[in-house]
Amino acid sequence: MSISSASHDHLESVLFEEEVILTRLDELAVEINREYEGKSLTVVAVLHGSLMMMADLLRRIRLPLKMECLSVESYHGGVESSGKVSFNMKKIPALSGDHVLIVDDILDSGRTLEEITRRISNECDPESIRVAVLLDKKADRVAGIKPDYVGFEIDDLFVVGYGLDYRGRYRNLPFIGTLKPEYLLPEHRSL
Ligand code: IMP
Ligand code: MG
Repeated sequence: MSISSASHDHLESVLFEEEVILTRLDELAVEINREYEGKSLTVVAVLHGSLMMMADLLRRIRLPLKMECLSVESYHGGVESSGKVSFNMKKIPALSGDHVLIVDDILDSGRTLEEITRRISNECDPESIRVAVLLDKKADRVAGIKPDYVGFEIDDLFVVGYGLDYRGRYRNLPFIGTLKPEYLLPEHRSL
């Protein structure tokens, strides 16, 4: 697997162009601006996948919000959820009395966001918790969690770009697409 060519050349197809993503974020921001008006809002980024969405979405929100980050891992470098969610931090943020909006790149099995919402709800005493994801991959869902804001629904495909990675790479692509098989490890090609 050569990684020397430009990352754009590694893509098989582009699913969502940058302008399509940004237009959708405009729409989500309108809803969020309206629904959280007058409320104490803290947006919690799930690192690293949500970074692009956070930057573009939050710049469209006109409320005096606060921002926190959570670091979790569920994939451990593969293309399928490991089923285990580990928090890479000792303490989760102080959110007592706040309306919490958790932002992540993609809802896949749902285990990650279910575990995050469970812990925030049990340990942080928030006023409310909602979930915003850029992508909703319904086919793989095992947890009961329902997202409140969704950018796009996608089929059961492994995608990269706009925050989403494969083995740590491709997060910087400004659009979302699928990888050419030759850039996947042999054991991931059938998925
Ligand atoms: P879940 O716990 O199965 O819902 O997994 C959520 C996490 O898996 C996301 O935050 C992503 O980091 C990762 N993930 C799920 N599907 C994809 C994908 O198609 N591309 C890249 N990462 C993905
Ligand atoms: Mg990831």
